[in-house]
This record gives sequence, C-alpha cells and structure tokens, in this order.
Amino acid sequence: MFVQSDIADGETVTRTMAAHDIDTVVHFAAESHVDRSIVNPAEFVRTNVLGTQQLLDCARKAWYVDGAWHANVRFHHVSTDEVYGSLRPDDAAFTENTPYAPRSPYAASKAASDHLVRAFAHTFGLPVTISNCSNNYGPYQFPEKLIPLVILNALRGLPLPVYGDGLQVRDWLYVDDHCAAIERILLDGALERTYNVGGRAEHTNMEIVRTICALIDTIFVESPELCDVYAACPAARGERTDSLITHVADRPGHDRRYAINPERIATELGFEPAHNLPGGLRDTVQWYLDNSQWWMGVLDGSYRKWIAQQYGDTR
Ligand code: TYD
Repeated sequence: MFVQSDIADGETVTRTMAAHDIDTVVHFAAESHVDRSIVNPAEFVRTNVLGTQQLLDCARKAWYVDGAWHANVRFHHVSTDEVYGSLRPDDAAFTENTPYAPRSPYAASKAASDHLVRAFAHTFGLPVTISNCSNNYGPYQFPEKLIPLVILNALRGLPLPVYGDGLQVRDWLYVDDHCAAIERILLDGALERTYNVGGRAEHTNMEIVRTICALIDTIFVESPELCDVYAACPAARGERTDSLITHVADRPGHDRRYAINPERIATELGFEPAHNLPGGLRDTVQWYLDNSQWWMGVLDGSYRKWIAQQYGDTR
C-alpha cells in the first residue's frame, strides 16, 4: 500500500505505522539535489533533519512499549558519501571511518540526519543500520541529476551543461545495485553498523557525458525510426551528439571527487554490484527512450496528476 505523506508529519507517520504494524523502516526520503540545496537550504534542513528526527521518534514510540523493544524491528537509514567531503586525486577512497566533512547544505543536512540516527541508537537503543552510498543512476531518476538531464537534453537537441572543466569525479552505482545492497544490510547487517556502498566505477563527468552521447549516436543508427521522433537530436541528422556539450559556470563549492571503498560490505555481506557502467548506462538510455510518457510528464509537471491517478490522493 502506498501512502503519500510528509515524513515531518509525525501524526500521519504514527498512524501509518500502527495501521500496518510496521516492523521495518527503510528511510530513503530526502531532498537530494545539491544545486537545489544551494538555492534553498531551509527545505533541506526541514525534510532531511527534522523529517528524520520525526521518523526516528515515531519508530521509537511504535516499537518501545512498556519498557521493552518489539522483537525484530529495524530502522535503516539511507545516506550519502557526500557526508565525507571531497577527495583529492591521490586520496584513498572513503571508508566507514573517514571523518565527516560535509561541504554543501545538502551534505550537511544528511550528515546531521546520520548523527541523529546514531544518537537514537546510543541514547534510546533504537535498532539501526546506516548505508552511505555513491552517486546513483538508472530508471525514474528525476531529470535534475546529471545523467537523466544529459539524456533528455540530448534527445531534444538542447545544450548539455558541464560545470567548470568537467573533470570532477563521481563513483557511479546502478540503482538496482543500491537496492540489492540495502536488502543485504536489512537481512544480515549488524546493528549500529555503517556500510559504504559504491559501484567501483570512478569516472569524470566528461567521460560520463561523452559515453551517453556515443550511446545515443549508436542507438540512432540501430533504430532509424528514432530520427523522426527526436528530430532535434544531432544523431537524427547523422551528427555527433557530443557537439551539444557546453561548459558552463562551476557549481559554488563544487566537490572535486567522491569515491567509495566498498570492502566492508563486500567482505562482511558478500555484496558486489551486478551492473558495470557501460551496460548500466546503455540500459538507462534505453529506459528513457522507452518511457518518454513518464519524463515528458515530469518535464511539464503533469506527472503529479499521474501519481494521483495511480495511488489516489492520500494526503
Ligand atoms: P549530480 O547528478 O547533481 O550529483 P552530485 O552533485 O550529488 O554528485 O551531479 C553529478 C556531477 O555532475 C557533479 O559533479 C555536478 C555535475 N553536473 C554538471 O556538470 N552539470 C549539470 O547540469 C549537473 C546537474 C551536474
């Protein structure tokens, strides 16, 4: 059952937890885009910090009754590698012991939420686990993020904005692999333990953008019917899609490099990502080609109506 609600609305969360006898919370809900956190930090503090505190409070009240914790309850907090700050090219990748050094309002809000989760475990005994994950990509990603933005701008013949020199490095993880890692943690992760999750796939932004462009060029040759549908895309005229790459002003405080050392989750829980970057990117481009109704609705805002039709207005 899907309930559309605000995680900072404790009353609805409490009611929902009781109505469905919920024993596991996997806390994915967050404002997650760095650029928007620069424009509006308050929204990030409200949802990511206060919202997490509300969820923790609701879980504690639901699961700690008459002086005892319910059996087999678990709060898993989904977080980001951005809490660890930025790496220089030769620095070792982030481990679970890397000191926190968040540098954007988004990263600071997620760091605060991580601290709250650990504090609830230490102070109240809430059974928690935490994962800090690298950059995700794949189906249904909102087109404010680099990979869907580049795919959709390319298909529409719009500039592909690369911040600064584009040599910033991210460690890319296909979304299904992230979900598989979280499942491993839920099933076998140790309480109060943190697991870093990465894709073993460090690439510069320029490499990512050029790879997507080359994929689109190839797919248009293989499927010439796309040339009519996406006539504004350079590939539809047999031209290179990377001709759309446009260097724009850098993001303020832009972190240079993120990289995850995934050894703990690999050795303790046997997790390895199943998708490599070339295959994952190809699947992602194909997914956006196959689901144009979804992203056109996102771009014109009508997806809100679609959500209401799918799930009813549960507010
Ligand atoms: P993003 O998808 O916003 O994730 P994050 O900021 O959490 O890493 O951005 C990934 C990288 O791509 C990051 O270095 C910023 C860069 N970027 C661009 O160069 N142009 C863009 O239009 C966007 C959205 C991101």
